[in-house]
Amino acid sequence: MQAWLDPFCAWLESTPLSHTLQSIEWIVPAVQTLHILAIGLLLSAVLMLNLRLLELACQDQPVMRIAARFLPVVWWTLPVLLVTGLLMISAEPARSLQNSAFQLKMIMLLSIVALTFAVQRRIDTNRWASSARLWRTGFALLSLLLWVGIVFAGRWIAYVRVA
Ligand code: HEM
Repeated sequence: MQAWLDPFCAWLESTPLSHTLQSIEWIVPAVQTLHILAIGLLLSAVLMLNLRLLELACQDQPVMRIAARFLPVVWWTLPVLLVTGLLMISAEPARSLQNSAFQLKMIMLLSIVALTFAVQRRIDTNRWASSARLWRTGFALLSLLLWVGIVFAGRWIAYVRVA
């Protein structure tokens, strides 16, 4: 698909790490299991924060407290997803790097990480209380849409054929 990625994929596939991942049968399923467990944790935290922003849960607690409780879960599970994701890429580089579903997933992931970071800064600097309700609802809905899109694109990778 993207010819410029071919040499990189070929190099990555020839590394000792990739050979190890390809030759020991249980490693990739174990890494996928960690990836899925981390997704579960991350999505639980994202859901709690967004339900609070939509005023559908924990209304007796300030947004700041809910954010302080659940945003660290998001930031700590992302490195786990990154490392397990990179290991899966190393096992079969072309399958993901040249896959349009994977590329879409990465674009959505970078967008939601940047957006969540911006919101966290607003909350940390106490500017959140002055945000309009429409803005909070918009962020929460966009956040849920992007996270669901990321999960869908993650599953879709397996069904997009890379030429
Ligand atoms: C942080 C960077 C990430 C990288 C580099 C990455 C990479 C990957 C790779 C390479 C796969 C294997 C696809 C395949 O071969 O079929 C995968 C699967 C998947 N990823 Fe990620 N991922 C990342 C983060 C995430 C996040 C944040 C989510 C969702 C919240 C996610 C959701 C999924 C899902 C649902 C699958 C399919 C799992 C399965 O059915 O086995 N990933 N990811």
